[in-house]
Amino acid sequence: MNKETKLIITVDGYSSCGKSTFARAIADELGYIYIDSGAMYRAVTLFCLRRGLVAGGVADTGRIISVLPEIDITFRRDGEKGYSETLLNGEPVEREIRGREVSDNVSAVSTIAGVRVKLVELQRSMGKGGGIVMDGRDIGTVVFPGAELKIFMTATPEVRAKRRYLELVSKGLPADYEAVVRNISDRDRIDSTREASPLRRADDAVILDNSVMTPEEQMVWFRKLYEERANESRD
Ligand code: DC
Repeated sequence: MNKETKLIITVDGYSSCGKSTFARAIADELGYIYIDSGAMYRAVTLFCLRRGLVAGGVADTGRIISVLPEIDITFRRDGEKGYSETLLNGEPVEREIRGREVSDNVSAVSTIAGVRVKLVELQRSMGKGGGIVMDGRDIGTVVFPGAELKIFMTATPEVRAKRRYLELVSKGLPADYEAVVRNISDRDRIDSTREASPLRRADDAVILDNSVMTPEEQMVWFRKLYEERANESRD
């Protein structure tokens, strides 16, 4: 691994493991672009909710597939720090896609194979030049199986529920701890048992269990991994 090479770095794992915080920090450090693939599934879900094509965790697969050509997802970047806002057909939806209704329905929409085909294609085109960190569930297994550096994140369900709850509170969104626990365990089950691209660790992904790690400790861990890989490729 040449340090000048612009890599593709994948960060997969369970929901609310702190993937996006970690992936964004790596991207900042390396001067890479950060792409949140979950935001894309959330934006498609929001579109479907507004059209009444998904409700109560049940999706109308046939109709959702037929409206896919109407959906355009882009990111608007704030030049500094790689912060990005998700746009659904040009409309900023960052806040809305983090809300409970989307969270409760996103697994149903993201199990639809046609939805995944569309988004995987978009993700590949966004990452093709390298120099990106993309987080999600299937980035190291399906989207970029040849990525140079793959990380699989995990943390205990209790830690994840607490983080998600605090995140909602800090954003001023309605937060109910018991509902968060239910949503996380439902999503784990659906994400890892679905037929299309289930969540699983790529054989060559390195595990990062951050249950008891601070963001700073995770960066120390990452720098060490990155250096090791760089040294290996020089030997
Ligand atoms: O990372 P997140 O919690 O914002 O993702 C929202 C949902 O999107 C998650 O429940 C599963 C789905 N997802 C997916 O199926 N594949 C991805 N690469 C990213 C997210």
